[in-house]
Amino acid sequence: MTQTDTDTSQDAAGTSPLAFTVDPDVARRTDEERAQILGAPGFGKHFTDHMVTATWTLDRGWHDAGVRAFGPITLSPAAAVLHYAQEVFEGLKAYRHDDGSVWSFRPEANAARFARSARRLALPQLPEADFLGSLEALVRADVDWVPSGGEASLYLRPFMFASEEFLGVRPAHTVTYCLIASPAGSYFPGGVRPVSIWLTTDYTRAAPGGTGEAKCGGNYAASLAAQQEAIGHGCDQVCFVDATEHRWVEELGGMNLYFVHADGRLVTPSLTGTILEGVTRSSILTLAKELGHEVEERKVSVEEWRDGVASGDITEVLACGTAAVVTPLGRLAWDGGEVVMGEEPGETTMRIRSRLLDIQYGREADEHGWLRRLA
Ligand code: COI
Repeated sequence: MTQTDTDTSQDAAGTSPLAFTVDPDVARRTDEERAQILGAPGFGKHFTDHMVTATWTLDRGWHDAGVRAFGPITLSPAAAVLHYAQEVFEGLKAYRHDDGSVWSFRPEANAARFARSARRLALPQLPEADFLGSLEALVRADVDWVPSGGEASLYLRPFMFASEEFLGVRPAHTVTYCLIASPAGSYFPGGVRPVSIWLTTDYTRAAPGGTGEAKCGGNYAASLAAQQEAIGHGCDQVCFVDATEHRWVEELGGMNLYFVHADGRLVTPSLTGTILEGVTRSSILTLAKELGHEVEERKVSVEEWRDGVASGDITEVLACGTAAVVTPLGRLAWDGGEVVMGEEPGETTMRIRSRLLDIQYGREADEHGWLRRLA
């Protein structure tokens, strides 16, 4: 095998399933410190006492897995990820049910997407059993950090990056897997209120054949200038259109979109290889049908959005994602105009939102077998 054609798609023999042994000496925050954080967690600002790490090398595969103290990672300044962004991540949540048990929602779907993203970024595959094993190990070690009540949850962030000290451009021979956890309240500081969207025509997020359907850090880095543009125009979030015709609505960068029509139809942009295949998006496809909606996955043009809102054919637009759950969109603005979907969250949006949350928090029967117990 040469330096340029390393095949990381096949694991070298490693120890699988990995044993995520917990370091017994990790210092924990006091009950008071933790209670203060859980009282107002915000999003992505606080982290639990532990984290998971595991290493992959070309010759040994996955090894050295463990649950350790949350803290800085030592990395060479020449680590490949710092130069060539060979990195992928996931996002999912742990929900506390009324009986105290803790559950995740469709984590197998996240494991599968993590593997697909890894393949696209020429990173090694983490077997599903190890992905799920790491979630269980961390949540059990930090179970007191899973909030209860309201819509609070423990946000789980698995990620993998090229940690090899090497400046040549090829897939890394040393890779680190890491899982951290962060108690979370609402993703948007204002809670459930309609957010405003800027339609960017200067920036695109993903081109055919690119990394748009992979959950890799580079996609999010590339979205930041567009997000700044949105904020500069007084909007909360940015909406991307396709890179070829600049006409077809794709996604918000961290959220997928659904359009609610006056006749009850729900339409979502089809997955064309440039849109992230959201777990929440796919769950809504199922739940909306059960709620009696016809659901279409197809191309949606910017004109259809603008004209549909103006004519009353499109009555609500919602964004969805693990972090944002289901969020109503209130206003769409672009260079030269705007349309207003609504000042208040729409009825269909809120019905779908409640249905999803009721399943996630165990208030409604899990008829699809979507929940997996973590602790
Ligand atoms: C998620 O919804 O979990 C995401 O990954 C979106 C964002 C927080 C990056």
